[in-house]
Amino acid sequence: MIELNIDPASEMTELGPNTVRLTFLPGGRCVEFEAGKLPYQEHGKPQSILDVAMNFGVHLEHACGGSYACSTCHVVVKKGRELLNECSEEEADRLDMAADLQLHSRLGCLTVIEKPGEVVVEIPAWNRNYISEGGGSTL
Ligand code: FES
Repeated sequence: MIELNIDPASEMTELGPNTVRLTFLPGGRCVEFEAGKLPYQEHGKPQSILDVAMNFGVHLEHACGGSYACSTCHVVVKKGRELLNECSEEEADRLDMAADLQLHSRLGCLTVIEKPGEVVVEIPAWNRNYISEGGGSTL
């Protein structure tokens, strides 16, 4: 697994056949790994956006510890929706409680990257501000 510090708008190298590239906006932190090979971090579903974030030390809020009970892991999928699992009814119900809900909003703990390829997610401003205003999990 590798981490790239590159501008997401710049031209990227071609991905290997089993490689996932995940970019977190707005910071542009970009990580790559071989699909199915990341060690599970015990929060959210294996190879979920939250699991990948934790593997690479990217801070994605997860107040309930990844048990889909809080919606603080809210992300907006900007690219690669076809590579992800479908949003379940359970996830949609929980998402209704998320601040700044958007058309392609998902819960990071339940959104699993099922196929290799390129995924881009944005961490909404509310989630980012939650930490600076004294919120934030200690998990
Ligand atoms: Fe609480 Fe995802 S971490 S719903």
